[in-house]
This record gives sequence, structure tokens and C-alpha cells, in this order.
Amino acid sequence: MFKILINKKIAPAIYKMELEAPFVAQKAMAGQFVMVRIDENGERIPLTIAGRGEKTIAIVYQTVGVTTQRLTEKKAGEYLLDVVGPLGHATDVKKIGTVCCIGGGVGIAELYPVVKAYSEAGNRVIVIIGARNKELVIFKDELKKTSHEMFITTDDGTEGEKGFVSDALKRLMAKGEKIDLVYAVGPAVMMKVVSDLTKPAGIMTMVSLNTVLVDGTGMCGSCRIEVGEETKFACVDGPEFDGHKVNFNELMVRQGLFKEQEKHACKIKGVLQG
Ligand SMILES: Cc1cc2nc3c(=O)[nH]c(=O)nc-3n(C[C@H](O)[C@H](O)[C@H](O)COP(=O)(O)OP(=O)(O)OC[C@H]3O[C@@H](n4cnc5c(N)ncnc54)[C@H](O)[C@@H]3O)c2cc1C
Ligand code: FES
Repeated sequence: MFKILINKKIAPAIYKMELEAPFVAQKAMAGQFVMVRIDENGERIPLTIAGRGEKTIAIVYQTVGVTTQRLTEKKAGEYLLDVVGPLGHATDVKKIGTVCCIGGGVGIAELYPVVKAYSEAGNRVIVIIGARNKELVIFKDELKKTSHEMFITTDDGTEGEKGFVSDALKRLMAKGEKIDLVYAVGPAVMMKVVSDLTKPAGIMTMVSLNTVLVDGTGMCGSCRIEVGEETKFACVDGPEFDGHKVNFNELMVRQGLFKEQEKHACKIKGVLQG
């Protein structure tokens, strides 16, 4: 059992939870995730480790369906049945020069440990974060402190530049900014657009994939994805892959595989689907 220390709303439909998970905290590295199960009746869902203390970890989740909605109902002092991890390969952090880290939506929270790790490794880190509107721009202060330059975009222009994160990247590239690596995490379509932009320019691009994970240990095959000529399992081979090789069209189709069941579960539980 894993004790909840904090569970608070940080933006509309986005919550930050801090949990006592000493063994996970000891080993967690940037880019890794946990599989969380609320109780014996719950499904397992993957959530990125967005921060860690000596004995604690932080997760940041957006309410999109039954399990993430049920998480919001948990209070400090209560427990989660399972928090399994850290899972997945950690981000391969090296000193390579200038790294442009891009986060969209709740992916902004997932980006934070990666930005910290690249900065601590001595890289110049440019951050681009984007959300639908001002209220959804999270982790602004944390990212500003850990990066060298930061750009914000919102779809409606209520904060930063009006437009998408890819527009800000396009501008940086057009003005001749020398970027050695792009790292992107967020909606599949955003990671696809970013990868399509950087491929002709020959900029190495890593993306963190959000395929549907069921067991998280490489056994069930639900998270399989074509990367280059090969089939990979996001849970054990990823979640980070070379964005120039990922079959994003397959990713987007596979993300919707359980839509009917998810809709049905929301209807039964009276949850509004995000
Ligand atoms: C490696 C990884 C890290 C992730 N980290 C975060 C995070 O830090 N914060 C966050 O808000 N979300 C994260 N996600 C997505 C998160 O797991 C889903 O939003 C969550 O499982 C939705 O469950 P639900 O029951 O609330 O919604 P549902 O109604 O069941 O699903 C809504 C949508 O969420 C996705 N989803 C559903 N079940 C899963 C599943 N088992 N695995 C993956 N995606 C699923 C599907 O695209 C689905 O259409 C991550 C996904 C992966 C693969
Ligand atoms: S989630 Fe089952 S193989 Fe990856």
C-alpha cells in the first residue's frame, strides 16, 4: 500500500499527487514511469514520475476517464494499492550541446525531470511548452528555473505566443539556432509534427510515447508500436524512441483501440470523458 501525502488540483482537470514510495523514489530516473492501481477493482494505468524526494514520488495526471477521475477522489492519508516502478528506460542523458525540450498539455509535467537532467548534465536547454490556454500552462516556474531559455505557446494566445509549440520550434530553426537534440512529450499529433519538422533538418529527435499500456512489463503486447522496421513494446523498449522512425499513424490508431469500452466505463460510473 502506498500512502498519499498530497493530492491537489494544479490546473483545470490536472492534479498533482505525492506518494510515499521509498523503493521507487530511490531508483527513479528522468523519463521513467509507474503503473498505478487504486484498489483491487481498478485497472492499472501508467503515469510518469514527475518528481521524487528521498522517500516520495510525484505524479501529475489529467482527468480523461474513469481511473484518472477516481484518483481525484483520493485524499491525503489514504492509500493506493499498487505503485509499480520505476518502469521503462530512463532518458539517455549526455552532454551534447543544445537540447530543445518540448512539452504539450500534461506532457509539460512529464518534461520537467528530463529538463532538469539535461541541464544538470551541462547542456544548454531551451524549453518550449504549449497548452490550450493560460490556465493549462503548468510547471512554468520550475521549468524557467531549470532551463536557459523558455518559450510558451497557447492555442488561444492567452499566454505567450498564439499558436503551437511546433510554431515556436520552426521559428528557432529558421533563425539558425543550432540545436543538437529535440526531446518532445505530449499529444501524439504534436510529437509527429515536431518529428516531421526536424527530420529534414537532420536534428536528432526523441519522443516519449503514450501507447495504451496494460501490464507494463512486456507480456501483453498492447503497447506495441512500429519503430523503423521493427516492432517495439513501449513499456520495456521505451517509452522514448527516435521520433524519425516512429509510425505515428499506427500510434494514433492504437490509442483509440479501447474507445468504446472507455466510453462504456465512463457511462456506468457517471464520469464525463475528457
Ligand atoms: C508511459 C506513459 C506515461 C504516461 N504518463 C502520464 C502522465 O504523467 N500524466 C497523465 O495524465 N497521463 C499519462 N499517461 C496517459 C495515462 O496513462 C492515461 O491518460 C490514463 O491511462 C487514462 O485512464 P482513464 O481510465 O482515466 O481514461 P480512459 O477513459 O480509460 O482512457 C482515456 C484515454 O487515455 C488513454 N489510456 C487509457 N488507458 C490507458 C492505459 N492503460 N495506458 C495508456 N494510455 C491509456 C487512451 O488514449 C484513452 O483513449 C501516460 C501514458 C503512458 C503510456
Ligand atoms: S503494456 Fe503489455 S507489453 Fe507493454
